[in-house]
Amino acid sequence: MTAIYEKIQSCMQCVRKMTDFVPEIAIVLGSGLGDFASHIKIEKEIPYSEIQGFPVSTVPGHAGKFIFGYVGDKKVVCMKGRVHYYEGYDISDVVLPIRLMGLLGAKILFLTNAAGGVNWDFAPGNLMMITDHVAAFAPNPLIGENIWELGVRFPDMTQIYDLKLQEVLRKSAAQNAIDLKEGVYAQLTGPSYESPAEIRMLRTLGVDAVGMSTVVEAIAANHMGLRICGVSCISNLAAGMSGKALSHEEVQEAADMASKNFANLLLVALPMFE
Ligand code: HPA
Repeated sequence: MTAIYEKIQSCMQCVRKMTDFVPEIAIVLGSGLGDFASHIKIEKEIPYSEIQGFPVSTVPGHAGKFIFGYVGDKKVVCMKGRVHYYEGYDISDVVLPIRLMGLLGAKILFLTNAAGGVNWDFAPGNLMMITDHVAAFAPNPLIGENIWELGVRFPDMTQIYDLKLQEVLRKSAAQNAIDLKEGVYAQLTGPSYESPAEIRMLRTLGVDAVGMSTVVEAIAANHMGLRICGVSCISNLAAGMSGKALSHEEVQEAADMASKNFANLLLVALPMFE
């Protein structure tokens, strides 16, 4: 057994001492999107700090806990707050929570984030369904000895974001009269925002939205066979596009503004996930 897998197992045992809840769907709530948690019929909350060895975020607005409970009749585990690579964690720690939720029973992973819009057709407050990603600028979380208990050495990444789940999200958007954008998300390490030249590069590469999370989580989840979907809240136009400087506060404010649409999108979609 690799040291990384042993650590995940020991976090598992820690969680299992506190709850025997088996989730079907795992949800990661990004910056400013934590309000969705108020719609969960809560069975158990576990602050990350109570799980020995678990990475705990240092970013304001990312205070972390697992919320186990129900959305309709679906059993979910929700991460309120995630850890980012730029905080200085090993990439294996950044994806540990995802692997843990998979081992706890989740078969579906719903990833969310706040992102900069690279596509000129996007505006702050838009929601974008992630149809594919660019991982080339982020560290690959599968580097190192393969964890055979989770998946194969060279996992296929042809269809990372599940087509059936995408169809459900489109339906939910239509029912909620949300103009759901679609596109490719790229993860850069951060914590500095991109330069305008980097944003032009990303646009040339076919990227629609840019952020500092999600892609490494999707890779780890795909490795272990989870079905994945993702939505970005476009919190700002990316560097150089609006003529103003970017700030974390602006990102959070825009994500807060979109939080009602976002919650509605999830609330209608989750019961249709199968
Ligand atoms: N760049 C990177 N990450 C982000 C941005 C951005 O413009 N907005 C929100 N997260």
